[in-house]
Amino acid sequence: MVRGLIAEALELPPDVIGDGDRLLGDLHLNSLRVVQLAAEAAERTRRAVPAAPPLFAEATVGAFVQAIEELPAAEGETGSQGPPEGVREWHRVLVEFTRPVEVDAEPASCTWRVFGGGRLRALVEPRLTALPEQDARPAVVAFLPEDPDDRAIDALLEAAHLAVDTGAPFTVVDSGDTASGFAGTIAAEYPSLPVRWIRALEAAPADAIGALLAASWQGHAEIVVDEDGRIGTPAYRAAGPAQTGRAPDAAPPLSAGDVLVVTGGGKGIGFASASFLARRWGVRLGLIGRSGPDGDAELRDNLARLREAGVEFCYQPADVTDPESLHRGVAAIVDRLGPVRGVIHASGLNRPARFGEIGAAWAEHAAPKHHGLRALLGAVDAGACGCSSPSAP
Ligand SMILES: NC(=O)c1ccc[n+]([C@@H]2O[C@H](COP(=O)([O-])OP(=O)(O)OC[C@H]3O[C@@H](n4cnc5c(N)ncnc54)[C@H](OP(=O)(O)O)[C@@H]3O)[C@@H](O)[C@H]2O)c1
Repeated sequence: MVRGLIAEALELPPDVIGDGDRLLGDLHLNSLRVVQLAAEAAERTRRAVPAAPPLFAEATVGAFVQAIEELPAAEGETGSQGPPEGVREWHRVLVEFTRPVEVDAEPASCTWRVFGGGRLRALVEPRLTALPEQDARPAVVAFLPEDPDDRAIDALLEAAHLAVDTGAPFTVVDSGDTASGFAGTIAAEYPSLPVRWIRALEAAPADAIGALLAASWQGHAEIVVDEDGRIGTPAYRAAGPAQTGRAPDAAPPLSAGDVLVVTGGGKGIGFASASFLARRWGVRLGLIGRSGPDGDAELRDNLARLREAGVEFCYQPADVTDPESLHRGVAAIVDRLGPVRGVIHASGLNRPARFGEIGAAWAEHAAPKHHGLRALLGAVDAGACGCSSPSAP
């Protein structure tokens, strides 16, 4: 039955699907579809809907079937459980504050391998080499500017690979807020590697950062340094209405008839979000993706579902990594539906991988996600001010 469901989703005969086929890597299902299939399979077999189905690219059909078979029986009447509630209850707007942190006063003696660039590196690096070197142990530090370009990210990855390969303690000095998640991921995947993320504004005193780098630490540490050299560890609490600027009973940010542009909106999580908001708020959708409905069955089916639901939308083929193509796509949406009132940027590659598997391919992921978002905001701004050419101011 589970294999039949997968075959149905792929519009393939069940016998061409092998146990060893990978759900994402070989069959090109996206992770959202896998979650939906797992929920559907669990309901049909009267098992508890799984909170965390197998999502990694290497998960095979055989492993998926086995995971469904191993689910416990559903409680109560069949079907009464329904699909999982989703993540709404987990969603909070958080505000950051700083907790005091103790730093080891005894400096560790290190031979530093320094990566990255920028003002802080220029100021801090001489202080590092001034430390005594006898019995020094290797350590790796990467400096990231506030708004890193692809070269800076290359340097960060090179530094992290060196740390992981040699077991040298790894520090990122981040002048923005780019790499806290990255450092946290490295710490989670390599639990025995000391990993430290230091957020230091460009204006932070180099002496304070130098002293902090010299101090030893254990495990995963996060430290912020302010302009006066004060240090702390970041912590988060739920924001109240005054901090979010929205009362709990405030009207939705978009109203019926408003135009919402959704990149990646024809498939996957982008489509799921767009169709939900169209039904919930009555917004009109400008959907963007590279494929056309003629050559892509998933896209064709999704657009048909929107039509059946009476949603007003237009779909424009455009590549978010190509600003001119995106500009033309957004301009066509504005011509057809009117000015853009909101955007969801969901175009991206969904190929989860561990750090050790990530090589130069990271740039393929960054292109639609990171650079695509900049291009989208540029295209929407140009559209909003009535400009029609990508080179217009
Ligand atoms: N699925 C989830 O539960 C989930 C949750 C959180 C975050 N995400 C993230 O959301 C992103 C999308 O994931 P997904 O699961 O929705 O993947 P997906 O099903 O493969 O959909 C990706 C969408 O992005 C479009 N796209 C990709 N590259 C594009 C480009 N260069 N220009 C324009 N459109 C492009 C694709 O359309 P074309 O193929 O037609 O170009 C498609 O509509 C990923 O970065 C993923 O990590 C997903």
